[in-house]
Amino acid sequence: MCGIVGYFGPQNPKEVIFNGLRALEYRGYDSAGVAILHQGEFKRVRAEGKLDQLGRRLESESFDGHLGIGHTRWATHGLPIERNAHPHCVGGVSIVHNGIIENHAALRADLKAQGVECSSDTDSELVAHLISQEISGGRNLLQAVLAVLPRLEGAYSILAVSKDQPNEMVAFKFGPPLIVGVSAEEVVVASDIQAIVPHTRQVIFLEDQEVAHVQGTQVTLLNHQGQALDKKPTLVDWSQEKAEKQGYPHFMLKEIFEQPRAVAQALAPHLCLESHQVQLDCELEESFLKDIERVFIVGCGTSFYAGLAGEYLIETWARVPVEVEIASEFRYRQPVLPPQSLVVVISQSGETADTLAALRLVKEQGVQVLSICNVPNSSIDREAQAHLYMNAGVEIGVASTKAFVSTLAVLNLLALALAKAKDRLSGPREAELVQSLLALPSHMETVLAYEKFFAEAAESLKAYRGFLYMGRGIHYPIALEGALKLKELAYMHAEGYAAGEMKHGPLALIDSHMAIVMLAPKDELYEKTLSNLEEAKARGGQIISIGTGEDERLKSLSLHYLALPQTEGLLMPLLEVIPLQLLAYHLADSLGHDVDQPRNLAKSVTVE
Ligand code: M6R
Repeated sequence: MCGIVGYFGPQNPKEVIFNGLRALEYRGYDSAGVAILHQGEFKRVRAEGKLDQLGRRLESESFDGHLGIGHTRWATHGLPIERNAHPHCVGGVSIVHNGIIENHAALRADLKAQGVECSSDTDSELVAHLISQEISGGRNLLQAVLAVLPRLEGAYSILAVSKDQPNEMVAFKFGPPLIVGVSAEEVVVASDIQAIVPHTRQVIFLEDQEVAHVQGTQVTLLNHQGQALDKKPTLVDWSQEKAEKQGYPHFMLKEIFEQPRAVAQALAPHLCLESHQVQLDCELEESFLKDIERVFIVGCGTSFYAGLAGEYLIETWARVPVEVEIASEFRYRQPVLPPQSLVVVISQSGETADTLAALRLVKEQGVQVLSICNVPNSSIDREAQAHLYMNAGVEIGVASTKAFVSTLAVLNLLALALAKAKDRLSGPREAELVQSLLALPSHMETVLAYEKFFAEAAESLKAYRGFLYMGRGIHYPIALEGALKLKELAYMHAEGYAAGEMKHGPLALIDSHMAIVMLAPKDELYEKTLSNLEEAKARGGQIISIGTGEDERLKSLSLHYLALPQTEGLLMPLLEVIPLQLLAYHLADSLGHDVDQPRNLAKSVTVE
C-alpha cells in the first residue's frame, strides 16, 4: 500500500526521502512524489509509475532546505496519474496520506460550496485544503491539524508540513501505521520501519488517534485533543541488511531459497534439543491451553491458507475443533465465540486492516487473542495478548513465501503444545515429531535443488488456458496457496480445489488446454487422488504431479512429475509448497512480469 517518508535533519533531504521511498517500494505503488523545502517554499516533484521515473526527474533538482516529505501512492480514489500523486500542496501546506477518507464526498461538496477548486481526484487533497484553511484562519500547523482531525472519517495516516513552520512536521494516525524515528540529529517519520532503520533504531510507534509534533529534533506526542502524552521511544531490532537481494535476480527467489533457514528460526525458540520436546515460548500457560475447547483462526490471503492447514494440524493432534475464517468476513458477521476459545490471528505484516479489525472485535468480547506475525511491533503484534513469531526475516516480495512456511512451522508447534496440554501426545511420539520438524530444513534444501526443473517446465506451461490445483486433506490448502501464487504473479487463471470436489463442477473445465497441478503424496488418500488424476487425464487434462519418491504410476499419468522426500504426512505441506512457488515464479518471470511487485497488489494491505 502507500508509503510515507518525512525527514528533518542535516542530510540532503532529497537523498534521504528518495532512499526511504526505495525501502518502501516492496509494499506496492503506482506513482510517487516528494515536496522539499527550497528557498522558503515547498518544491514538489511527482511522477507516474515506478520510482525510477521520479528519480530521473529529481536528478536535476536541488533543494536548500532541511525538511521534506515523500510518498509512494497505491491508487484508491482517482487514477494512478501524476495529477493524483502525493504530496498534495495547497497554499503553503503539503501533505502525504495513506488510507481512505471515507467522508470525502461530503468534504468535497463542502469545499466546492465555498468555491474551492481541487486539482486532483483524490480524497487526500481535501485534507490539504482543510489544513490550509485553518492556517489561513490564523492557526499554526499543529492547531490546524487538531482542528481538522474531528472532521475526518475513515482509516488514515497523514504527515503534514507548512512553509510557515520550516522545522516542523505533524504526523497523525487513525488506521495505517506511522512511525517516528528519533535521534540527536534527525527525525524520520515513515509508514514502515524499513525507511527508518538506516538512520536510527529509536522509534515511536503511533497508536490510533495519536499525533506526533516534530519541532527540529524534538518530538512531542499528543492525543487528538492536543493533550501531551508521556510516551518514550523504543529500541527496535530490525536489520536492514536482510532487505537486499544478495545476488538473486528477485527478492522472491531469494526468499524462496531462505525458507529452510526461516523454518529453522521459527522452530528454534520452542524446541528443546536435548529432550526432543515442544516447549511453546508464548504467554499462554499450559493450564490455559488445557481448557481450550475451540480454536478460531483468522487471516487473509496466504495467511488464511496457512490457517486452513492449521485446522488439519490442531484437529488431528489436539482433537480441538477449529474454525478458520477470512478476516474480512469474520469481522462483519457477528461471530459467536464461546468462553473457552482461543482466537489465532495470522499476519505476516501485522498491519492487515481486516485482520486487525477482527482482533479488536475478539478482544471486545473478552476472548484471548494469540497473534502469529512476522513483523515485531506491528499493530497486530502490539495489540494481541499472546504472541508467536514467524521469525522468517524481512519478506519483501509481495507474494508471500517464507512467511507461509514459517507460519506452518509455528502452527505445528501450537498444535503439538495443545495436544500435550490435553494429554494427547505420548513422549515417544512427541520426540519422533520433533525430530521430523528438525529435519525439515534439510528436506527443503533437497526440494530447492529442483529449481532448474521449474525454470525449464515454465516455458512449456505458458500456453495453457488455465490451471487447476488440487489436493486432498491438508494438501488442499496448499493447492489453494499454489493457485494464489500463480494468479498474483503470472496473471493466469488458476483455481485451487479439493480433489474430491472435481466431479462436482471443475471436471467440466478440463480439456487439453487445462493444466492440472496435483498434490499426490503417498498417504491414506493417495489411491483416491490417483483416481481423480485418471479422470482428469481421460479428459485430456495435462498433469503436473507432485508426489513422494519414485512413483511410476504417478509418473506415467503426468507430463511433469516431481518427487519430494518423504516426511511425516502432516509436514508434507512445507515441502510441497516449494515447487508451487517456483512454478509461479518461473512462469511469471518467463512472461516478463514484475515478480517482486505484481500489478495492482501491495505487500501490506492497510485499508479495507
Ligand atoms: O500481511 P498479511 O499476512 O496479513 O497479508 C495477508 C495477505 O494480504 C497476503 O498473504 C497476500 O495474500 C499475499 N500477497 C499472498 O502472496
